Amino acid sequence: MIIGFIGFGKVSRNLINLINSDDIEFITSSEGRSQETIESIKEANVKLLDTFKDVALNSDILISANSPKSALEVAKKYGKFTDGLYLDLNNISPKTTFEISKYVDKLVDGAVIGKIDSDNPILYISGEFSDKLLFLNEFIKTKKISDTIGDAAILKLLRSSYTKSLSALLIETSQLADDYNLMDEFFETLSLTEGVEFKNKSISRINNTLNSSKRKSEELEEIIDYFDDKDLIMVKAALKKLSQ
Ligand SMILES: NC(=O)c1ccc[n+]([C@@H]2O[C@H](COP(=O)([O-])OP(=O)(O)OC[C@H]3O[C@@H](n4cnc5c(N)ncnc54)[C@H](OP(=O)(O)O)[C@@H]3O)[C@@H](O)[C@H]2O)c1
Repeated sequence: MIIGFIGFGKVSRNLINLINSDDIEFITSSEGRSQETIESIKEANVKLLDTFKDVALNSDILISANSPKSALEVAKKYGKFTDGLYLDLNNISPKTTFEISKYVDKLVDGAVIGKIDSDNPILYISGEFSDKLLFLNEFIKTKKISDTIGDAAILKLLRSSYTKSLSALLIETSQLADDYNLMDEFFETLSLTEGVEFKNKSISRINNTLNSSKRKSEELEEIIDYFDDKDLIMVKAALKKLSQ
Protein backbone atom coordinates (compact mmCIF):
# COMPACT_ATOMS: atom_id res chain seq x y z
CA MET A 1 0.00 0.00 0.00
CA ILE A 2 1.18 3.52 -0.79
CA ILE A 3 0.32 6.50 1.42
CA GLY A 4 1.00 9.92 -0.10
CA PHE A 5 1.28 13.23 1.73
CA ILE A 6 0.47 16.72 0.54
CA GLY A 7 2.18 18.77 3.21
CA PHE A 8 5.09 17.45 5.19
CA GLY A 9 5.04 19.08 8.62
CA LYS A 10 4.47 17.79 12.14
CA VAL A 11 1.38 15.77 11.29
CA SER A 12 2.87 13.89 8.32
CA ARG A 13 6.21 13.26 10.07
CA ASN A 14 4.50 11.86 13.14
CA LEU A 15 2.14 9.70 11.11
CA ILE A 16 5.12 8.11 9.36
CA ASN A 17 6.69 7.35 12.72
CA LEU A 18 3.45 5.90 14.05
CA ILE A 19 2.51 3.85 10.96
CA ASN A 20 5.38 1.45 11.23
CA SER A 21 4.69 -1.30 8.71
CA ASP A 22 6.79 -3.10 6.07
CA ASP A 23 3.69 -3.24 3.85
CA ILE A 24 3.31 0.52 3.57
CA GLU A 25 5.40 2.88 1.47
CA PHE A 26 5.24 6.66 1.93
CA ILE A 27 5.55 9.22 -0.85
CA THR A 28 5.51 13.00 -1.04
CA SER A 29 6.92 15.89 -3.09
CA SER A 30 8.90 19.01 -2.26
CA GLU A 31 7.41 20.92 -5.20
CA GLY A 32 7.30 24.59 -4.19
CA ARG A 33 8.09 23.85 -0.54
CA SER A 34 10.28 25.67 1.99
CA GLN A 35 13.82 24.67 2.93
CA GLU A 36 12.52 23.49 6.30
CA THR A 37 10.09 21.08 4.66
CA ILE A 38 12.75 19.89 2.18
CA GLU A 39 15.11 19.08 5.11
CA SER A 40 12.30 17.38 6.97
CA ILE A 41 11.54 15.16 3.95
CA LYS A 42 15.25 14.22 3.62
CA GLU A 43 15.34 13.02 7.21
CA ALA A 44 12.19 10.90 6.91
CA ASN A 45 11.63 7.47 5.46
CA VAL A 46 9.66 8.76 2.48
CA LYS A 47 10.09 8.51 -1.29
CA LEU A 48 10.31 11.85 -3.09
CA LEU A 49 8.36 12.35 -6.34
CA ASP A 50 8.71 15.33 -8.70
CA THR A 51 5.22 16.77 -8.28
CA PHE A 52 2.19 16.57 -6.00
CA LYS A 53 0.22 15.47 -9.05
CA ASP A 54 2.49 12.38 -9.22
CA VAL A 55 1.89 11.84 -5.51
CA ALA A 56 -1.89 11.96 -6.03
CA LEU A 57 -1.73 9.62 -9.05
CA ASN A 58 0.31 7.02 -7.15
CA SER A 59 -1.39 7.00 -3.74
CA ASP A 60 -3.81 4.42 -2.36
CA ILE A 61 -4.41 6.88 0.44
CA LEU A 62 -3.69 10.56 -0.13
CA ILE A 63 -3.35 12.55 3.08
CA SER A 64 -3.84 16.31 2.98
CA ALA A 65 -2.08 17.80 6.02
CA ASN A 66 -0.87 21.25 5.02
CA SER A 67 -2.76 24.21 6.47
CA PRO A 68 -6.36 25.28 7.01
CA LYS A 69 -5.85 28.02 4.41
CA SER A 70 -4.54 25.74 1.65
CA ALA A 71 -6.76 22.70 2.27
CA LEU A 72 -9.46 23.64 -0.26
CA GLU A 73 -7.02 24.74 -2.95
CA VAL A 74 -5.04 21.50 -2.51
CA ALA A 75 -8.23 19.43 -2.83
CA LYS A 76 -9.30 21.33 -5.96
CA LYS A 77 -5.87 20.90 -7.53
CA TYR A 78 -5.02 17.28 -6.68
CA GLY A 79 -8.26 15.56 -5.59
CA LYS A 80 -9.17 14.71 -9.18
CA PHE A 81 -5.90 12.85 -9.78
CA THR A 82 -6.30 10.18 -7.14
CA ASP A 83 -8.26 6.95 -7.40
CA GLY A 84 -7.51 6.23 -3.79
CA LEU A 85 -8.98 7.55 -0.57
CA TYR A 86 -8.44 11.22 0.24
CA LEU A 87 -8.02 11.84 3.96
CA ASP A 88 -8.23 15.51 4.95
CA LEU A 89 -6.61 16.17 8.33
CA ASN A 90 -6.52 19.96 8.22
CA ASN A 91 -8.19 21.96 10.95
CA ILE A 92 -10.95 23.27 8.74
CA SER A 93 -14.58 24.17 9.29
CA PRO A 94 -17.36 21.78 8.23
CA LYS A 95 -18.23 24.28 5.48
CA THR A 96 -14.77 23.84 3.94
CA THR A 97 -15.05 20.07 4.31
CA PHE A 98 -18.34 20.09 2.35
CA GLU A 99 -16.72 22.30 -0.28
CA ILE A 100 -13.82 19.85 -0.57
CA SER A 101 -16.25 16.95 -1.02
CA LYS A 102 -17.28 18.54 -4.36
CA TYR A 103 -13.78 18.02 -5.73
CA VAL A 104 -12.83 14.66 -4.21
CA ASP A 105 -14.54 11.33 -4.92
CA LYS A 106 -13.50 9.19 -1.97
CA LEU A 107 -13.17 11.78 0.75
CA VAL A 108 -12.67 10.80 4.38
CA ASP A 109 -13.20 13.63 6.86
CA GLY A 110 -10.52 13.34 9.54
CA ALA A 111 -9.84 15.06 12.85
CA VAL A 112 -6.73 14.51 14.91
CA ILE A 113 -7.85 15.32 18.42
CA GLY A 114 -4.99 16.25 20.70
CA LYS A 115 -1.57 17.18 19.38
CA ILE A 116 -0.30 14.58 16.94
CA ASP A 117 2.92 14.21 18.96
CA SER A 118 1.10 13.90 22.29
CA ASP A 119 0.88 10.57 24.15
CA ASN A 120 -2.60 9.67 23.04
CA PRO A 121 -3.87 11.44 19.94
CA ILE A 122 -7.09 10.04 18.51
CA LEU A 123 -7.97 10.08 14.85
CA TYR A 124 -11.72 10.50 14.34
CA ILE A 125 -12.97 9.77 10.84
CA SER A 126 -16.30 10.10 9.07
CA GLY A 127 -17.70 9.53 5.60
CA GLU A 128 -18.87 6.49 3.69
CA PHE A 129 -15.30 5.41 2.90
CA SER A 130 -13.99 5.76 6.44
CA ASP A 131 -14.33 2.01 7.17
CA LYS A 132 -11.40 1.47 4.83
CA LEU A 133 -9.14 3.48 7.15
CA LEU A 134 -9.98 1.61 10.33
CA PHE A 135 -6.84 -0.51 9.87
CA LEU A 136 -4.94 2.61 11.03
CA ASN A 137 -6.14 1.77 14.54
CA GLU A 138 -3.24 -0.67 14.67
CA PHE A 139 -0.89 2.36 14.66
CA ILE A 140 -2.88 5.32 16.00
CA LYS A 141 -6.14 5.12 17.93
CA THR A 142 -8.72 5.52 15.15
CA LYS A 143 -12.48 5.85 15.60
CA LYS A 144 -15.16 6.01 12.97
CA ILE A 145 -17.94 8.45 13.86
CA SER A 146 -20.43 7.92 11.04
CA ASP A 147 -20.88 7.71 7.27
CA THR A 148 -21.49 11.46 7.13
CA ILE A 149 -18.89 13.87 5.77
CA GLY A 150 -18.66 16.84 8.12
CA ASP A 151 -19.17 14.94 11.38
CA ALA A 152 -15.43 14.84 12.16
CA ALA A 153 -15.17 18.56 11.40
CA ILE A 154 -18.20 19.32 13.60
CA LEU A 155 -16.68 17.28 16.44
CA LYS A 156 -13.57 19.52 16.26
CA LEU A 157 -15.79 22.61 16.53
CA LEU A 158 -17.66 21.19 19.53
CA ARG A 159 -14.41 20.44 21.33
CA SER A 160 -13.03 23.81 20.42
CA SER A 161 -16.14 25.68 21.61
CA TYR A 162 -15.87 23.97 25.01
CA THR A 163 -12.11 24.39 25.52
CA LYS A 164 -11.95 28.00 24.32
CA SER A 165 -14.99 29.12 26.32
CA LEU A 166 -13.52 27.44 29.37
CA SER A 167 -10.19 29.18 28.80
CA ALA A 168 -11.95 32.56 28.71
CA LEU A 169 -13.69 31.77 32.00
CA LEU A 170 -10.39 30.64 33.54
CA ILE A 171 -8.74 33.90 32.47
CA GLU A 172 -11.53 35.93 34.05
CA THR A 173 -11.73 34.05 37.36
CA SER A 174 -7.96 33.73 37.83
CA GLN A 175 -7.61 37.50 37.26
CA LEU A 176 -10.24 38.05 39.95
CA ALA A 177 -8.42 35.67 42.30
CA ASP A 178 -5.20 37.56 41.64
CA ASP A 179 -6.91 40.88 42.46
CA TYR A 180 -7.77 39.45 45.89
CA ASN A 181 -4.36 37.79 46.32
CA LEU A 182 -6.03 34.37 46.47
CA MET A 183 -4.51 32.72 43.40
CA ASP A 184 -2.95 29.69 45.17
CA GLU A 185 -6.07 29.05 47.21
CA PHE A 186 -8.26 29.45 44.11
CA PHE A 187 -6.43 26.67 42.29
CA GLU A 188 -6.17 24.55 45.44
CA THR A 189 -9.94 24.56 45.95
CA LEU A 190 -10.58 23.70 42.32
CA SER A 191 -8.00 20.91 42.36
CA LEU A 192 -10.14 19.13 44.96
CA THR A 193 -12.73 18.37 42.31
CA GLU A 194 -10.78 18.82 39.07
CA GLY A 195 -7.70 16.76 39.97
CA VAL A 196 -4.13 17.46 41.08
CA GLU A 197 -2.92 18.55 37.66
CA PHE A 198 -5.59 21.22 37.32
CA LYS A 199 -3.39 24.18 38.28
CA ASN A 200 -0.57 23.41 35.83
CA LYS A 201 -2.96 22.57 33.03
CA SER A 202 -4.98 25.73 33.64
CA ILE A 203 -1.93 28.00 33.68
CA SER A 204 -0.70 26.47 30.46
CA ARG A 205 -4.17 26.87 28.93
CA ILE A 206 -4.39 30.51 30.04
CA ASN A 207 -0.93 31.37 28.65
CA ASN A 208 -1.59 29.53 25.44
CA THR A 209 -4.88 31.41 24.96
CA LEU A 210 -3.39 34.82 25.77
CA ASN A 211 -0.41 34.21 23.47
CA SER A 212 -2.62 33.37 20.52
CA SER A 213 -5.78 35.28 21.35
CA LYS A 214 -6.19 36.53 17.77
CA ARG A 215 -6.21 33.01 16.32
CA LYS A 216 -8.46 31.74 19.14
CA SER A 217 -10.88 34.61 18.51
CA GLU A 218 -10.97 33.74 14.82
CA GLU A 219 -11.74 30.13 15.72
CA LEU A 220 -14.57 31.25 18.00
CA GLU A 221 -15.94 33.45 15.20
CA GLU A 222 -15.89 30.41 12.94
CA ILE A 223 -17.87 28.40 15.52
CA ILE A 224 -20.46 31.18 15.88
CA ASP A 225 -20.71 31.47 12.11
CA TYR A 226 -21.20 27.73 11.59
CA PHE A 227 -23.81 27.32 14.35
CA ASP A 228 -25.51 30.63 13.51
CA ASP A 229 -29.00 29.18 14.02
CA LYS A 230 -28.12 28.08 17.59
CA ASP A 231 -28.12 30.19 20.71
CA LEU A 232 -24.42 30.28 21.62
CA ILE A 233 -24.43 32.60 24.63
CA MET A 234 -21.25 31.26 26.26
CA VAL A 235 -19.18 31.11 23.08
CA LYS A 236 -20.16 34.69 22.25
CA ALA A 237 -19.17 35.79 25.75
CA ALA A 238 -15.82 34.01 25.37
CA LEU A 239 -15.24 35.84 22.09
CA LYS A 240 -16.01 39.17 23.79
CA LYS A 241 -13.58 38.32 26.60
CA LEU A 242 -10.77 37.31 24.21
CA SER A 243 -11.29 40.41 22.08
CA GLN A 244 -10.61 42.68 25.08
N1 LIG B 1 -0.01 19.62 14.66
C1 LIG B 1 -1.07 18.99 15.12
O1 LIG B 1 -1.02 18.32 16.16
C2 LIG B 1 -2.38 19.02 14.36
C3 LIG B 1 -3.48 18.38 14.92
C4 LIG B 1 -4.68 18.38 14.21
C5 LIG B 1 -4.74 18.98 12.96
N2 LIG B 1 -3.66 19.61 12.44
C6 LIG B 1 -3.80 20.21 11.10
O2 LIG B 1 -3.00 19.49 10.19
C7 LIG B 1 -2.44 20.36 9.20
C8 LIG B 1 -0.92 20.24 9.20
O3 LIG B 1 -0.45 20.59 10.50
P1 LIG B 1 1.11 20.52 10.84
O4 LIG B 1 1.19 20.72 12.30
O5 LIG B 1 1.72 19.33 10.21
O6 LIG B 1 1.60 21.84 10.08
P2 LIG B 1 3.11 22.32 9.80
O7 LIG B 1 4.05 21.62 10.72
O8 LIG B 1 3.05 23.80 9.79
O9 LIG B 1 3.42 21.79 8.32
C9 LIG B 1 2.64 22.17 7.21
C10 LIG B 1 3.24 21.52 5.99
O10 LIG B 1 2.37 21.71 4.88
C11 LIG B 1 3.12 22.30 3.81
N3 LIG B 1 2.23 23.08 2.96
C12 LIG B 1 1.62 24.27 3.23
N4 LIG B 1 0.87 24.66 2.19
C13 LIG B 1 1.00 23.70 1.23
C14 LIG B 1 0.49 23.53 -0.09
N5 LIG B 1 -0.34 24.42 -0.64
N6 LIG B 1 0.85 22.42 -0.78
C15 LIG B 1 1.68 21.51 -0.25
N7 LIG B 1 2.22 21.60 0.99
C16 LIG B 1 1.87 22.70 1.72
C17 LIG B 1 4.19 23.11 4.51
O11 LIG B 1 5.24 23.39 3.61
P3 LIG B 1 6.08 24.77 3.73
O12 LIG B 1 7.08 24.53 4.82
O13 LIG B 1 6.70 24.92 2.39
O14 LIG B 1 5.10 25.85 4.05
C18 LIG B 1 4.59 22.11 5.59
O15 LIG B 1 5.40 21.08 5.06
C19 LIG B 1 -2.94 21.77 9.53
O16 LIG B 1 -4.06 22.06 8.74
C20 LIG B 1 -3.33 21.67 11.00
O17 LIG B 1 -4.37 22.55 11.30
C21 LIG B 1 -2.48 19.66 13.12
